[in-house]
Amino acid sequence: MNSFMSFLFDTRGCTGLRLAVRILRSRLRLFLLLIIAVFAAALSGCREPKEEPVSVPGNNITVGYVKIGSESDWRIACNRSLDEAFSADNGYYLLVNDAQQKPEKQVKAMREFISLGVDYILLDPIMESGWDASLSEAREAGIPVIVFDREVDVKEPGAYTAWIGSDFRLEGDRACAWLSAFLEKQKYDQPLNILHLQGTIGSSAQIGRTAALMDAIDDHPDWNLIDQQPGEFTTAKGKEIMAQMLDKYGSRIQVVYCENDNMAYGAIEAIHEAGMTPGTDIKNGEILILSFDAARSAMERTLRGEIAVDTECMPLYGPRLVQMIDQLEKGETLQFRNYVPEEQFSAVDGLTSVEAAGEEYPVTLVTKELIGGREY
Ligand code: AHR
Repeated sequence: MNSFMSFLFDTRGCTGLRLAVRILRSRLRLFLLLIIAVFAAALSGCREPKEEPVSVPGNNITVGYVKIGSESDWRIACNRSLDEAFSADNGYYLLVNDAQQKPEKQVKAMREFISLGVDYILLDPIMESGWDASLSEAREAGIPVIVFDREVDVKEPGAYTAWIGSDFRLEGDRACAWLSAFLEKQKYDQPLNILHLQGTIGSSAQIGRTAALMDAIDDHPDWNLIDQQPGEFTTAKGKEIMAQMLDKYGSRIQVVYCENDNMAYGAIEAIHEAGMTPGTDIKNGEILILSFDAARSAMERTLRGEIAVDTECMPLYGPRLVQMIDQLEKGETLQFRNYVPEEQFSAVDGLTSVEAAGEEYPVTLVTKELIGGREY
């Protein structure tokens, strides 16, 4: 970066001069965006090929998106939602840096967006840890950071502007509450062997969902954790681990608690290949699968009875994040923590609600019509 650019971005960091700098920036918009486009092209994994930064309307708000990757159906729906919401027609220029599931790439992307002097940074962190330094650099540079989906674990409470995401612990509590209610409904009172496929270790989605299962196992003396393995939230890893677990434990596995849909897809494939059946008839040897996300393809598997219950994880953050940035543009203060509402879907009729964390939550029976009406 030359000294003029350094001056521009350093000055921008002083809150008192922020407005003046925005005006200066809008006058120099074409020049700046040309520079941004050159930097952006140089960023590793930055923007997908179809999104080459060719021309950018002069007054658009520049947003740097520190993306996790494309490991799951959920992630693909989330990325599409941001691409659509932060379009040029809506007045944005979205720079995307794909970390391909590598935490160190995310920290590098943060620093590159800070150097570019984008107007806002959207951070979906792979891991909760490791964010203190780069978030404080963004704050010093005067760039608001909205963390979304997963959370960051930082020392300073005001290290970022706001967070919006899922209550992963509650998702897990609801899944375990469903299992408990289902067993009661079936009058199943034998010991139960549970295999646990975990997501990316250290991510909020894994931490919350795992904690819920561990506490539920403590609360149910008959529930036995037969094994616990990381499956990285991917279909391939889910299948690989499930095949290994079936080799090792065979029909002793009665329940699989999959921390996302893609690992459930892999587990289902492995179960079929082992000549076994995913389903809810555990008394007759079917393997009951609990999953998270409620992506379309998983809902179809739920309709077929291969997934017994799917606890939703909401991926459509684009419009919500646009609304938050609009509020900041108007000078409004954002609520710091924001949970998104989520549902729960099941293949089993007659179980219409569960009690989790002291509250009653509805459980919806999956139908073809319901799947047809969903956005992802
Ligand atoms: O952070 C959201 C989680 O990450 C989703 O459950 C999973 O599918 C994704 O990869």
